[in-house]
Amino acid sequence: MHPAAARPAAGAQAGRPGPGRSSAARLEEICGLAAAIRLDIREALVLPLRAPSPGLLLGKGQVERLAGLVAAHGAEVVVIDSRITPVQQKNLETALGAKVIDRTSLILEIFGERAATAEGRLQVELAHLEYQAGRLVRTWTHLERQRGGFGFLGGPGETQIEADRRLLRDRIARIRRELEEVRRTRGLHRARRRKAPVPAIALVGYTNAGKSTLFNRLTGSRVLAEDLLFATLDPTIRRIRLPGAGAAVLSDTVGFVSDLPTELVAAFRATLEEVTEADLIVHVRDVAHPDSEAQAADVRAILGSLGLDDGQVPVIEVLNKADLLDPLEREALAGRGGQLLVSARTGEGVEALVAAMAGALLHGGAPETLTLHPSDGRRRAWLHAHAEILSETEEDGMVRLTVRLGEAARARYRAL
Ligand code: GTP
Repeated sequence: MHPAAARPAAGAQAGRPGPGRSSAARLEEICGLAAAIRLDIREALVLPLRAPSPGLLLGKGQVERLAGLVAAHGAEVVVIDSRITPVQQKNLETALGAKVIDRTSLILEIFGERAATAEGRLQVELAHLEYQAGRLVRTWTHLERQRGGFGFLGGPGETQIEADRRLLRDRIARIRRELEEVRRTRGLHRARRRKAPVPAIALVGYTNAGKSTLFNRLTGSRVLAEDLLFATLDPTIRRIRLPGAGAAVLSDTVGFVSDLPTELVAAFRATLEEVTEADLIVHVRDVAHPDSEAQAADVRAILGSLGLDDGQVPVIEVLNKADLLDPLEREALAGRGGQLLVSARTGEGVEALVAAMAGALLHGGAPETLTLHPSDGRRRAWLHAHAEILSETEEDGMVRLTVRLGEAARARYRAL
């Protein structure tokens, strides 16, 4: 935490928790998100929403209670883990005497801070503008209702809103054009990388699952592994060497959150482009988290929406933070197939994971025999680096190799 930048804040989680997710865990998540932009959390509480009030969202007594907490702690910001309308935001700010932000604004704030590439920044700006545009429309309909809806067109309020909307529309159009330009150049970069004959592996998972820590373990590098959510917005890519399967590129991706606000889905998905092109997906889970199962279901659903659930691309599930489990919990998990118990922190299970990754890249390959000219050192070296060599002989002046190649590797071999 950055003490100079920390601002005292109070958090409130209003409404019902999503299915399978406890309100305590949601409260913890929103606190983690608030901490990610260095808010110094003074108070966090769950407020049941019995009859959401259109003007304030919360009940009168709840607002009074919050106002008391704001005053007692000198809080400057109140974070509400729920959707609030611009009118509710304004009314709450007046009633509480503090700035009020909702979940979408908070996540946008984080995306904005962590966006490292031109594309990431443009995506965040676009999401921001679209969010504003949506709110402007809502304010406008609200004003229209206030006027009685009789269509007194051309009033001063409306002219201003029309002008604001036009301004926003122009900026949105400009950013879309810039984004397309950036994507085209990135497409070129990727095409270049595709030619590099190595498979791509993507680490995905819920925010704070330990992707960056595992990424660092696997690459032996130190990127950002902080106890802050969203330590990675733009994919970080490194080369690694897998025994038996040769070199691969490993990418770390931005973390998933529950109930991602719809305005942010496009920005988030675009950050997952690396994942859609991966030859292998490693789904990192925080197995010690009370909502581990619900989080995993969310991640699987998003992978499904990206068309990655048809079994074409292998997925390895890593149960991370094994060091936090007690022996009984470990035993309960040990019997599950297809999942690996790992601790990115202590290194436990990482060797088995590396072997599983190599195996998954080679998997699907039935043994096949390839014949090469002895002068074709390039192909031969490539096979030694990326295939499992079952035998190698020289006959009639030609080299005969019996190898096992995975699907991805076979495609790359053909492209050589
Ligand atoms: P985002 O960037 O928010 O998506 O998070 P991430 O998935 O990259 O998580 P990160 O690697 O930043 O780890 C989050 C927190 O969990 C950090 O405090 C890590 O030190 C901790 N952590 C990661 N792996 C382990 C582990 O195996 N055991 C324990 N005890 N803590 C871990």
